[in-house]
Amino acid sequence: MRTKQAVKAAKPEIPKSTDELLELEAKYCSWGDTVHYVSKPNIFKESEGSFLYDRDGVEFLDLQMWYSAVNFGYRNKRLNAALKKQIDVLPQLACQYLHEEKIRLAAKIAQRNELSFEEKGRVHFNVGGSSALEDSMKLVRNHTGRSLVFAFMGGYHGRTLAASAITSSFRYREKFGHFGDRAMFIPFPYCFRCPYEKKKDFCDFYCLKQFERLFETEYHSVVNKKNNKCEFSAFYVEALQGTGGYIIPPQEYYAGLKEVLDRYGILFVDDEIQMGFFRTGKLWAIEHFNVTPDIIVFGKALTNGLNPISGIWAKEKFISPEVFPPGSTHSTFSSNPLGTAVGLEVMKLIEESDFATMVPKKGQYFISRLKKLQKKFPQIGDVDGLGLALRMEMCEKDGYTPSKELTDKIVDLGLSGKLTAGGKKRGLVLDVGGYYKNVFTLAPSFYITEEEIDLGVDLFEEALVKALKK
Ligand SMILES: Cc1ncc(COP(=O)(O)O)c(C=O)c1O
Repeated sequence: MRTKQAVKAAKPEIPKSTDELLELEAKYCSWGDTVHYVSKPNIFKESEGSFLYDRDGVEFLDLQMWYSAVNFGYRNKRLNAALKKQIDVLPQLACQYLHEEKIRLAAKIAQRNELSFEEKGRVHFNVGGSSALEDSMKLVRNHTGRSLVFAFMGGYHGRTLAASAITSSFRYREKFGHFGDRAMFIPFPYCFRCPYEKKKDFCDFYCLKQFERLFETEYHSVVNKKNNKCEFSAFYVEALQGTGGYIIPPQEYYAGLKEVLDRYGILFVDDEIQMGFFRTGKLWAIEHFNVTPDIIVFGKALTNGLNPISGIWAKEKFISPEVFPPGSTHSTFSSNPLGTAVGLEVMKLIEESDFATMVPKKGQYFISRLKKLQKKFPQIGDVDGLGLALRMEMCEKDGYTPSKELTDKIVDLGLSGKLTAGGKKRGLVLDVGGYYKNVFTLAPSFYITEEEIDLGVDLFEEALVKALKK
């Protein structure tokens, strides 16, 4: 062991420049997260509204808003004030004791769902989307006594071990051993790239029929036809696939799916972690599809990204104290007062605002601008959106073959902060999703203005033109 003096003498200089900080990062930060998906990461220092600012003061228009965690804009005054106020009143409290904000937040969500779905239910909080998702799995297993689930190809539910087991990408599981309860992955109705090569509107829901066929005979491996018992307990659904590329299924799809599931007592679990809190123009994206989920999982925008609190809502029969008694699940920070205070303020903001009108209106304007751009560039294969969850697929010139290369170039150009559209040096922050990593998944702030949308489209066009010349 070193002496105190030796430790003091070895104290490193405080790095000043961005390059020095990046050197330090390269040495001491784990690269196991997603920072190094890009060739050269930037370091951000400030934020405001729809913008991030780096250490040199360069302004970056953010069209992803922390993967839809910051729906209400950076440094939202009202939400920040709620956090600051709580810090001075009751900032910490062990979760085994009650505080008012927790009760009121749970009640607001449950009452809202009661109105929308005509179902009584309860809310349980946790920290981070994946942990809430794991809680939902406990409810499912507890109710059905079974652990296997269906999930969608292209689905993303997080990266804890249990969430990885129902997340479609093998890459996330590859190095982490055996996943005995890995989901059975079913093709998602991704009509632009139909998994069955059918044409939208002429397919007669072939994908749904294929799913239904699994239950035709016991030899399709999911059901015992003698007693109608299914080996699978739930179907995990993202109403719009998030990481999968903001894919919007046909309107009637989920009602058809739910009908099949109901026949075999399979629960419908709706993962709203990315699409919840009005990203699509409704509190929950599933509300567009005329089905009532058994369980809803939420996180991200509940606190506008100010606190990692997350949660589940479940129908009473799955979560009542009789079936889910005290101690069934717990985490130190699960219903922390800073999180519940901001969450409550988010719910109040939602009640007092008209996001149901404002979000689709802005989304339509954004899409109209992107469609115009699509006419100029055949490389933009698909433009679609629901509310302010927008997608743009980057392709080869044929408008169909996915181009990850072009996508990556545009991301790097945006992050370089050297675009000039709008008359000054600027950057553009974009998120990439999709099965082929060629989809821009756009999730702008709900308060983005038309001028900022115009600026975003101009910056994007500039990056696209430069990327095509590279
Ligand atoms: C749909 C969906 N489910 C689950 C998760 C996991 O949430 P977290 O990263 O907070 O664990 C995410 C995160 O992106 C998500 O988009």
